[in-house]
Amino acid sequence: MKFVWTTDPHFDHVPESAWQDWVADVTATSPDGLWITGDISEGEDVVIQLRRVADASNLPVYFVLGNHDFYDSSISRTRRDVVSATRDDRRLVYLTDSQPIELIDNVFLVGEDGWGDATVGDFDHSPIRLRDFEKIEDLTGLTHKNLTKRLRQLGHESAERLANKLAILPATARQITVLTHLPPFREACWYEGRIADDNWAPSFVCGALGQVLLQYNQSHPSVSISVLCGHTHHEGVVQMAENLTVRTGSAVYGKPGIEAVIEIT
Ligand SMILES: [Fe+2]
Ligand SMILES: [Fe+2]
Repeated sequence: MKFVWTTDPHFDHVPESAWQDWVADVTATSPDGLWITGDISEGEDVVIQLRRVADASNLPVYFVLGNHDFYDSSISRTRRDVVSATRDDRRLVYLTDSQPIELIDNVFLVGEDGWGDATVGDFDHSPIRLRDFEKIEDLTGLTHKNLTKRLRQLGHESAERLANKLAILPATARQITVLTHLPPFREACWYEGRIADDNWAPSFVCGALGQVLLQYNQSHPSVSISVLCGHTHHEGVVQMAENLTVRTGSAVYGKPGIEAVIEIT
């Protein structure tokens, strides 16, 4: 099977010609499906863009949501609307809301949005303030202490959902691809070839998710885990353990690309 991976397309910023180019590039590879690792659009436009992608490509679309997808809305409302859209349209698969999918024998696809969970780096002294804290209802108007608590809770919830999915994989599983928006490790949080410092890491790493991946890797060392993520818009690959690799994809506003064509064998 063959899948096209795109991250952070931010379709709300894409002019028609760039959109047409992207659709043509995707369909030219004749994939079995499309993988999108978040930041599809913003607010109510997320569902519109997901349907547009499925209609234009005529492919199943496996995706997770990124922080921008929750802008001008709340986390629960966005997830509810997206889940509802996937119920109406079988081509759309929201992996955060899905059980592991067996692509071929003992090779699985799982996904989870993730969140910059303020567990890595130094959030207390970081001057970085994401627009998330003004644009996502759940994160606005909070004191620093409560914001920190909320971010950690979101990361914890993501990690718990992922752990539950990994726990139900059969003992025969040999390969897992994990789609997520946030890099789960600082080492995977690339920016122009360097990794995030203490100021950026709190908002650019989902540390709780990383812990779950490391624990699973330690208890299942023979299972090959490949994590695909985005959010930083800068690419890099890091091998966290012999069978645990994280690939972070690049992105340019207004010009969605294909990060990779991935063959599952
Ligand atoms: Fe993005
Ligand atoms: Fe993002």
